[in-house]
Amino acid sequence: MESEERIAVLLAKMTPAEKAGQLSTFSDKIRLAALGINPDANKSPDELLQAVRDGKVGSLFNGIGAAKGREIQRVAVEESRLGIPLLFAADVIHGLRTVFPLPLGEAASFEPELAEQTARATAVEATAMGIQWTFAPMVDVARDQRWGRVAEASGEDVHLGLKMAVARVRGFQGPDLRAEDSLLACPKHFAAYGGVAAGMEYNYVDISEATLRDVHLPAFEESFKAGALTTMSAFNDVAGVPATGNKFLMTDVLRGEWRFKGLVVSDFTADLELIEHGFAKDGRDAAKKSLLAGLDISMESGLFNEHLPELVASGEVPGELVDEAVRRVLRVKAALGLFENPYRSLAPGRSFDVAAHEALARESAKRSIVMLRNEKGILPLRRSGQKIALIGPFASDVRNLPGTWALFGDQSRMVSIEAGMRAALESPESLTVVRGCRTEDAIEGGLQEALAAAEAADVVVLAIGEAQSYSGESQSRTQIVVPAVQQALAEAVKATGKPTVVVLKTGRALALSGAVKEADGLLVAWFLGSQTGQALADVLFGGYSPSARLPLSFPQDSGQQPFFYNHPRTGRPQPKGQPRDFKARYREVGNEALYPFGFGLGYTRFEYGPVLLSSSRLAWGQTLRVSAAVRNVGKRTGEEVVQLYLHDCVASRVRPVRELKGFRKVWIEPGETCTVAFSLGIEDLGFHAVSGQRVVEPGEFHVWIAPCATAGEPAVFELLPAAASSKL
Ligand code: GLC
Repeated sequence: MESEERIAVLLAKMTPAEKAGQLSTFSDKIRLAALGINPDANKSPDELLQAVRDGKVGSLFNGIGAAKGREIQRVAVEESRLGIPLLFAADVIHGLRTVFPLPLGEAASFEPELAEQTARATAVEATAMGIQWTFAPMVDVARDQRWGRVAEASGEDVHLGLKMAVARVRGFQGPDLRAEDSLLACPKHFAAYGGVAAGMEYNYVDISEATLRDVHLPAFEESFKAGALTTMSAFNDVAGVPATGNKFLMTDVLRGEWRFKGLVVSDFTADLELIEHGFAKDGRDAAKKSLLAGLDISMESGLFNEHLPELVASGEVPGELVDEAVRRVLRVKAALGLFENPYRSLAPGRSFDVAAHEALARESAKRSIVMLRNEKGILPLRRSGQKIALIGPFASDVRNLPGTWALFGDQSRMVSIEAGMRAALESPESLTVVRGCRTEDAIEGGLQEALAAAEAADVVVLAIGEAQSYSGESQSRTQIVVPAVQQALAEAVKATGKPTVVVLKTGRALALSGAVKEADGLLVAWFLGSQTGQALADVLFGGYSPSARLPLSFPQDSGQQPFFYNHPRTGRPQPKGQPRDFKARYREVGNEALYPFGFGLGYTRFEYGPVLLSSSRLAWGQTLRVSAAVRNVGKRTGEEVVQLYLHDCVASRVRPVRELKGFRKVWIEPGETCTVAFSLGIEDLGFHAVSGQRVVEPGEFHVWIAPCATAGEPAVFELLPAAASSKL
């Protein structure tokens, strides 16, 4: 039977209660209880299983295990009245048993194709363990590093973010949604969660529609074009209307403009939270407003089960709207082939190639490490003939390797920094390891032990930074700095005068100071996942020349937040050179980054030639070829992330000082030159006007091909007015 016909037949049979059930998802207490996870919260598995039997559950999330999942599915299919299969979801963000780098770290690779591979491997592992739908990729554009969820995103840039989003959607879903190893994607959080005021988690988001459309929506639109069939409504409001009750977002834009055919699931109790927002007066009102706005599935609150049947009976919610929401859910289940094969991805004993996934995790991790400093060529270190002291709370640590949202990671396969370094050294005994302090507090005698190790060594590697608990959901920080006890450790080590390399673990950009800021070598190691130690050793000992670049700006001071390179121009920009009063700056620091977006060093150096244009005038509908010669002037092969930036000099709405419009990562042999070319078309020059309409306006544009967001000199071209260009 055709799926539309099957859906129509099913819908006609469904009672109002069964329709509400399809629109309700709950955390999978059944599988979590079976695994003994969080027993206090997961104490009613039998009640939930009965709700499945009663047709009151459409999907479950954050459980794991194919065998148990299969049992639950059997109850849904064989013991409920209509036998509609469940969907099994989970927050599988950056790996499952094999943990890949944080999405933020992986974005630093500037390799969407690599992100697609790790998402594909993640999908293979998740679907082998009874998960069919992931609440990922998180595509929020994060512009304030105080916000803890920066870690799950792809940095501060729109273009890099949407490229990573599309790659992850493709990787998760694969070519065929019906395949056993296809993992349904869910770009989230719709929308503009990354714009929370003051970087405060769950805070209000007060932005213009033009900023919403220029910055926060593109990654969603491109993800849906790439085939994503679900999205998740966000906790936050947008300009006063909570996303989960926002008809403009979930109906006018999503379905009206984008013709999105998939479903919207709320974030965890986000519909119930309309009451706290002061947008709904009670649970019934919240259910009504969220459904009317375009929400399809209520997560965890149970509001749809409780209120939808009566809301429809009272006429306050048109039955057709509920039916359309149910159709969307059933269509997604049909798209995954669940009606023909309800036990898909619920096959116990399906395995995956652990060794291949670990090799990929190592590859992805080493390509995510950003080198910010390499004074006096301290890096790479030698594998023999020098004594190394590895010091810091993360030297031997394995608990903090995964980073946030690494549910169900296989801890037994985590490789610590110590283990990775020892494996790389010709004489492992030349490595001395001392914790020195804990993440936030001192260890009795720890500092003395650390300094003794430093004094006895030829070089120190300091493994410091944030614990994984410092980033992720509900982890906003006011001071984005290295914890004080670790900063003190770094200062004491610096005072010994020993050459020092800092390996900085972090889920966000940090405001660096003192000995950390001035370390001889400085590597940003994010949270690199299962193969942390191997990947760091590859870079530390020169097996791999670091090629990653910053996906976000490292500020001089926490007080600069929100800070992002592609900020709108102002009327009083600070001129280059000596800071001047009555120009944009702070009393304490200038308004530039310590390290800009796109910056990173390798074990070789590159020089850029001038930007060359195929024409200095661009006619409407034509494309412009923009190129530059990039030369490897160092002694070893290396990869360079060549970046294309654009600025619209005069426009009806103030434009960013620069915007990334393209990037390409290229291998260049020592002494060789590579000409890197990009094409710019009319569609690349557009932005949203104050009206919210997308426009392209004639006039002068500057274009750079550069190694980061503040480098290089621009070439200039003019976009001709449509009329004038017709004479060309
Ligand atoms: C959380 C997160 C969301 C996640 C959901 C289900 O609160 O905001 O990203 O997918 O709940 O766990």
